[in-house]
Amino acid sequence: MLGGVSSPPILFALLLVGHGGCAGCARRGEADASARGRAVYISQCISCHNLDPSLPGPLGPQVKGSSRALLEARILRAEYPPGYTPTRTTRLMPARPDLAPYIDDLAAFLQ
Ligand code: HEC
Repeated sequence: MLGGVSSPPILFALLLVGHGGCAGCARRGEADASARGRAVYISQCISCHNLDPSLPGPLGPQVKGSSRALLEARILRAEYPPGYTPTRTTRLMPARPDLAPYIDDLAAFLQ
């Protein structure tokens, strides 16, 4: 189910921590946002979602193309934006309000 994973998730977690601590780095735009989002996705989401976000994972559905509004509501509050029809009717995914700083990056990666 996680075919294609060449490095253990901990490496990506370390990459993420290292990036946050890069005091001298200039902000380099969308490519970086997507890369940061990928690191967050790999370290926080693929226990349930697929490494390839366009495919269903072991527990969660495909999430490719998720809007920022959907990600914010789902991840921070375990809710959905008004009028959105969820892919699944289950309520298994826990809210992660601590991931608020990474919603933009996740949206850039999943767009
Ligand atoms: C504990 C397992 C688990 C983790 C970890 C998890 N999810 Fe989920 N996710 C689910 C499940 C299961 C659903 C289906 C709805 C439900 O049961 O909560 C879901 C639903 C979603 C949805 C709504 C999809 C739709 O269109 O209805 C999005 C978006 C999403 N997850 C993104 C993420 C992101 C991004 C992360 C990492 C920050 C993440 N999830 C972490 C299990 C998880």
